[in-house]
Amino acid sequence: MDRIAVLDFGSQYAHLICRRIRSLSVRADLVRHDIDPAKLGGVKGIILSGGPSSVHEDGSPHPHDGIFSANVPVLGICYGHQLVVDKFGGEVLNANREYGSSALQIDEPKGLLGGIGTSVRAWMSHGDEASKVPGGFEVIAHTSTSRAAAIADPDRRVYGVQFHPEVAHTERGNDILGNFVLKICGARADWTMESFVEDKVAELSEIGGNVLCGASGGIDSTVTAALLHRAIGPRLRCVFVDNGLLRHGEPDGVRSLYEELGIDLETVDASERFLGRLSGVADPEKKRRIVGGEFIAVFGEAAASGTRCTHLAQGTLYPDVIESGSTGGPAAVIKSHHNVGGLPKELGLELVEPLRELYKDEVREVARILGIPESIIARHPFPGPGLSVRIMGAVTPEKLAMARDASRIVEDELRNAGLYDSVWQAYAGVGNDRAVGVVGDMRVHGHVVVIRIVESIDAMTADWSRIPHNVLEAMSNRITNEVDNVALVTYAVSSKPPATIELE
Ligand code: XMP
Repeated sequence: MDRIAVLDFGSQYAHLICRRIRSLSVRADLVRHDIDPAKLGGVKGIILSGGPSSVHEDGSPHPHDGIFSANVPVLGICYGHQLVVDKFGGEVLNANREYGSSALQIDEPKGLLGGIGTSVRAWMSHGDEASKVPGGFEVIAHTSTSRAAAIADPDRRVYGVQFHPEVAHTERGNDILGNFVLKICGARADWTMESFVEDKVAELSEIGGNVLCGASGGIDSTVTAALLHRAIGPRLRCVFVDNGLLRHGEPDGVRSLYEELGIDLETVDASERFLGRLSGVADPEKKRRIVGGEFIAVFGEAAASGTRCTHLAQGTLYPDVIESGSTGGPAAVIKSHHNVGGLPKELGLELVEPLRELYKDEVREVARILGIPESIIARHPFPGPGLSVRIMGAVTPEKLAMARDASRIVEDELRNAGLYDSVWQAYAGVGNDRAVGVVGDMRVHGHVVVIRIVESIDAMTADWSRIPHNVLEAMSNRITNEVDNVALVTYAVSSKPPATIELE
């Protein structure tokens, strides 16, 4: 199968380049920026990603010298473009900054920029620019700020673009990547999600020993378990931990899902120990650390008892990895998720994360190939720390019951209105303050329930959903009527950023 190697210079978008190439049905692998080309094993082309550095900075990342003599086409993007300019004897200067969308004028509408017209909007994000184009290269596109926004040396098959063709804001960006990958590199478009599944199963079957898989019933861990089940069959142990922070009916739902999939499931009722450790703890970070630590402890105990396990599998996805700054490359940390970032050494378990390269919509595709029920595929994401991050302040049995019942009502009404599938996440959380209400002529001093419904593409950013007022009204009425001790229902109208999707 033909492959493209993407060298990771630390851009938040480096992985997105791979994802775009996969959407052209060509396999793409993100690799270390300084990889020895001898280790690339017959790739059809090489892309140098963007990155936060400046080529002249001390210690800035550079590719291995052999990359440009590997006799395959090379495309530099943003910082990668500047590396190309620098390497071939041009000049890079900290001159005109350009951030956001610019009009790209195509000077040479052929080759890399063939078939995309004479002008497109292109997404720029750079401080440095190519002030002198190296000998043998021609300028094939410019903007009002960047004289050399795209350059080409078709004889040596080396190209550079100052803009980011991989982001959705660049018009015809996929066509530009397609020109490079399919036409210039001549890669065959024979990669499919089915081939990803086959390769992954083959890779996982190489694991020696037994694997413990944390099974939450969500799509990510279910796909992880199903891949491992195909790969190592009876050497897989799936463990569902009831931490007392789950949604209505969840433990039974997970048990019947695994029965349907034909995968054995062990259940550990750890609700008392989780809720005990959380008792009286109001600080959000402490709560997250307690839940994360307790999960690791429960999995460690499970791995050491019964059939001994050497590996722990988790359904970590790429956006979790990039937000937590755990790519191993030169990227910045944005936020830490409790299930990313490795395991304590003393646990003696090796981590297996077969979905680490994928985005949510790609995982949904894998799930369909593996025959996972559509109800699981369409289900909204649920955070690892469960209801503890949907309850402000200390978690109490009363607040837990309230969050569970009110969330069930929110989901019900959303389904009744035919809106469940068109939003990213929807739930009701519980505040830490109280409001005065009047029920049957009696004054009540009850809780505040917060309905949060958001739309998002990848959870990195989100907007509150403009739900029709009559649907919100039905939710509010049912919550105050059916859930005890609720005095006020509110609707959260903050986007992410500045808020987050969960309350804590
Ligand atoms: P926030 O609240 O950070 O959430 O905007 C973004 C997405 O991630 C989920 N989330 C988590 N998932 N472990 C997880 O597995 C976590 O610690 C965690 N925190 C938030 C959240 O539900 C949303 O989809």
